[in-house]
Amino acid sequence: MYRVAIITSSDSGYAGQREDRSGPVIRELVTKAGYQVVHTVLLPDERAMLSAEMARIADGDLADLILTTGGTGFSPRDCTPEATADITERAVPGIPEAMRYLSLQITPRAMLSRASAGIRKGTLIVNLPGSPKAVTECLEYILPALGHGLEILRGDASNCART
Ligand code: MTE
Repeated sequence: MYRVAIITSSDSGYAGQREDRSGPVIRELVTKAGYQVVHTVLLPDERAMLSAEMARIADGDLADLILTTGGTGFSPRDCTPEATADITERAVPGIPEAMRYLSLQITPRAMLSRASAGIRKGTLIVNLPGSPKAVTECLEYILPALGHGLEILRGDASNCART
């Protein structure tokens, strides 16, 4: 059972002005898919805080997968992809490419997503969009492939042919 940490990036959520609805949606979807949610946190759109939290989780091997939600658009404060790039060691462009491929069939606004993904040590970090609707659409699409990626990352599968 792989361990998931969920980071919600939202100034208004952090200030208590808006309920975080996307974090709980992620929790529900990954739990249904057999993952164990080990950590959830709501942070402001602060690049240094977000990257420090991601690095803390990865360096402490506290989760196999970090899913972020929010902060991937064009708002001046949106900085989740930059925070992710600050601390990841290897980029994983295929996951955000896949999310945009799927999402463009739903809305042309999907091209406005700046989401990224990457690996730090043994932890995969994936940026999801901010809205519960977009989170559901993207996560349901990528979840079936994520497990195999984590198997390889965590050394539970040495190659694709065996699994
Ligand atoms: N992806 C899907 N699947 N469904 C959506 O409704 N909305 C888009 C896009 N990706 C959307 C989507 C919109 S409107 C924006 S602005 C970007 O994601 C960035 O989202 P964020 O600012 O909420 O992170």
